[in-house]
Amino acid sequence: MTIIASLLRAADLPDSPTARLDAELLLAAALGKSRSFLHTWPERIVPSEAALVFAEYLQRRRSGEPVAYILGQQGFWKLDLEVAPHTLIPRPDTELLVETALDLLPATPAKVLDLGTGSGAIALALASERPAWQVTAVDRVLEAVALAERNRQRLHLSNVSVLSSHWFSALKEHRYTLIISNPPYIAAADPHLAVGDVRFEPASALVAGADGLDDLRLIVDQAPQHLEAGGWLMLEHGYDQADAVRDLLLSQGFEEVHSRKDLGGHERISLGRLPC
Ligand SMILES: C[S@@+](CC[C@H](N)C(=O)[O-])C[C@H]1O[C@@H](n2cnc3c(N)ncnc32)[C@H](O)[C@@H]1O
Repeated sequence: MTIIASLLRAADLPDSPTARLDAELLLAAALGKSRSFLHTWPERIVPSEAALVFAEYLQRRRSGEPVAYILGQQGFWKLDLEVAPHTLIPRPDTELLVETALDLLPATPAKVLDLGTGSGAIALALASERPAWQVTAVDRVLEAVALAERNRQRLHLSNVSVLSSHWFSALKEHRYTLIISNPPYIAAADPHLAVGDVRFEPASALVAGADGLDDLRLIVDQAPQHLEAGGWLMLEHGYDQADAVRDLLLSQGFEEVHSRKDLGGHERISLGRLPC
């Protein structure tokens, strides 16, 4: 029989800043308890079935699998989302897009389009904060569409519709007040694709051609046909892509073009407004 504290001490995950946190999250999940339970009751005995589940989770984590995929969930904004290996694990960086949208648009009725919704993170965060907005969320990957729809239902957000679409292809002539996207933006040969959590994430969510800009180019080119006059386009991109994305926006006639920095001081989103 083993107690919580000794199991955590013996977890033996590869040295990383999150090793202790990872072990706690995995043990808490194996026990069906919260992390605070582990801290409050470190001397509690761990039932053998939970110890076996924990051992399996640790094995997967040691092979590099992200904790979010092992547990099938990830926090984003104020929401707990189901996640799955068919699409990206939502990142805290992407909350900058959500903050910017909430900052720039009034809370009055608006039509919002989230392109490449994945787990539904951006669409569901916006819809939860702005009940008057009608949010359409699209993805090309059918498993991602199903995942976003499950998250929508679990969160009871009736102001979101989730659709399968290759970017704008299923949206006909509809026009939106805001188009928002965190598209794939990594260059196909980028060595970062072979390191860390992204090894487990699908190329369909990450890679966009030789320079990483293929999807951003297509979205910026086609967005004016789907925006209302005065509508905004907001895009997440790589830390070194802001100049290129601002140029794309300016070349398509967008105004008020600018970028915003993440907490690390990197320009990670760029936006522009269609003339009124
Ligand atoms: C970087 S992930 C972002 C996921 C989610 N929006 C987030 O921020 O966590 C990009 C998403 O775009 C989707 N995607 C890739 N190509 C697409 C396309 N041609 N049309 C629609 N969605 C696409 C991928 O399936 C993936 O879910």
